[in-house]
Amino acid sequence: MERSLILLKPDCVQRRLIGNIIARFEAKAINIVGLKLIQVTPELSKQHYAEHVEKPFYPGLEEFITGAPVVAIVLEGLEVIRVVREMLGATNGLQAAPGTIRGDYSSSRQMNLVHASDGTEAATREIALYFNDNEICGYTPCLTPWMRAGDE
Ligand code: CMP
Repeated sequence: MERSLILLKPDCVQRRLIGNIIARFEAKAINIVGLKLIQVTPELSKQHYAEHVEKPFYPGLEEFITGAPVVAIVLEGLEVIRVVREMLGATNGLQAAPGTIRGDYSSSRQMNLVHASDGTEAATREIALYFNDNEICGYTPCLTPWMRAGDE
């Protein structure tokens, strides 16, 4: 089992797409084990986007990500980091394939609706940035036997 940190970004919240995006993860039989609405501060933005802080686009990115609340989610599932990034599509909504979340709802590089961890190290770091251990609720959905075989 893997976990990934997902952010439904301010554009997703403002555009009333929260339920729509979460429904896609649920329909894919991915387990939600953490979820909250939070306001990202400039400090948290700099921690989250540490690798981008020196890039020319960072000031605009910080203004965007702190401009309205985000929904922080921890998803759990088999290969969930790769699976969710494939569900999101390319970073730039203009290049994301139809059928992906960004391909269907975003026409922007910056306002691309959803962030997802890009690897196991990033997931561990990002989950710890947004969630305390006691805010994550691992559980076994009762439909698990109908969502994958026992040896998967
Ligand atoms: P995300 O997956 O959250 O990770 C970094 C974010 O920076 C990315 O989504 C985009 O929102 C944003 N981003 C990446 N590249 C650029 C760029 N060249 N110009 C503006 N924003 C960018």
